[in-house]
Amino acid sequence: MNHASKSACGATRNRCSAELGFFGSALPHELVRDFGTPLYVYNESVLRERCRELKGLSEDPGFRVCYSTKANGNPHLLRIIREEGLIADAMSPGELALLKRAGFRKEEICYVCNNVDAAELALANAQADHVSVDSVSQVESFGRVNPGGRVMARVNPGIGAGHSSKVITAGKKTKFGIPPEDFGALRAALDAYGLKLIGLNQHVGSLFMDPKPYLDAARWLLKTAASFPGLEIIDFGGGFGVPYRKYDMEKRLDLAEFGLRFGALISAFRAKQGFSGIFIIEPGRYIAAECSILLGTVTAVKNNGGVRYVGTDLGFNVLARPMIYDSFHDLEVYPGNDKPRALTLQTVVGNICETGDVLARDRQIPELVEGDIVGVLDAGAYGQAMSSNYNQRLRPAEALIRPDGSCSLIRRRDTIEDLLAVYPE
Ligand code: LLP
Repeated sequence: MNHASKSACGATRNRCSAELGFFGSALPHELVRDFGTPLYVYNESVLRERCRELKGLSEDPGFRVCYSTKANGNPHLLRIIREEGLIADAMSPGELALLKRAGFRKEEICYVCNNVDAAELALANAQADHVSVDSVSQVESFGRVNPGGRVMARVNPGIGAGHSSKVITAGKKTKFGIPPEDFGALRAALDAYGLKLIGLNQHVGSLFMDPKPYLDAARWLLKTAASFPGLEIIDFGGGFGVPYRKYDMEKRLDLAEFGLRFGALISAFRAKQGFSGIFIIEPGRYIAAECSILLGTVTAVKNNGGVRYVGTDLGFNVLARPMIYDSFHDLEVYPGNDKPRALTLQTVVGNICETGDVLARDRQIPELVEGDIVGVLDAGAYGQAMSSNYNQRLRPAEALIRPDGSCSLIRRRDTIEDLLAVYPE
């Protein structure tokens, strides 16, 4: 569909998302009229394509792509991901409930948790195919809950990667994983409770565009796995990055090359160790990020200290990533009128009572005025999933564009009644 002109979208790459058909049969303004803003809009075809790309990484019959539900747990999206043949990981009872709602069966769910209590371990053990714990102390807790049971252990390969120190989850400066120096204690804890170690997993961190650290850590994991005979599952974790700077022509992760190198590692391991189990990767962002554009409305414009501030309803309660990690998201502009717009340096902010409530700083984009619609690209992973009711604002609605171009609501916006419902009278 080509509803919006190039200049209208303010695109500096070839074409903006509206022109590329992202919004199906609708214009951004029509979606906003029907559903209001803030609104996360998802495109089913893009979601399916990302699932297929990762499934195509290896032809090994025991290769599984396990979607990491924490990136986006909307059950309507989870249902599509399941239809594409992915399994899923959960890390909380809430995620388990959403996966069940979406139709995932026990044998399609991995539980990868951190610092949880006995009741949660028991629940996970009952509802997931396998549970991975990530300290000797949690192995002992699991053993008390389920003596003689089957368990996986998350190990720390000492190699981390990620877009921010806050999401690097291996190496010295992290709470995650069992380090090699604790492997003796791990074996002792397994023995003490008669547990069978069925698998090892790791997760080096979130967002790599250079596959080297992931592959180095994968090599380490396979070497480690060889010293734990009888494993059935080896899970390498997620972290597959997407290009957030599309308008700067940022390159995609080279999956073809990754697949070749990864494939060589796992087939060599099968051959050498006689391993007949399964290999898992655990991507969240790669599957969910690019299938969503977050729409918001410009509500006010002003100058302060020489900066043009564009006020919107996209506070960090709606999209927290820029505030928490200084993350960059490309913006598109869908103007409310036909007036020509000059490219202008602007800082786009939200409606939350903190100075750090900045969505995009110093962006050269078409001059925004009240009533314009702003689109935030690549918002599907850790967007809605990290939204909150801070300032007692309402978490946003979500809509899905189907492959036939139609659109439907897949999560309603919170209501004031939702906010009040948790307080006893
Ligand atoms: N497996 C485990 C054990 C994880 O902790 C994570 C993410 C994943 C898989 C999926 O990682 P992905 O493929 O999505 O990179 N809120 C941050 C990202 C936090 C990632 C947490 N763990 C952000 O907005 O960038």
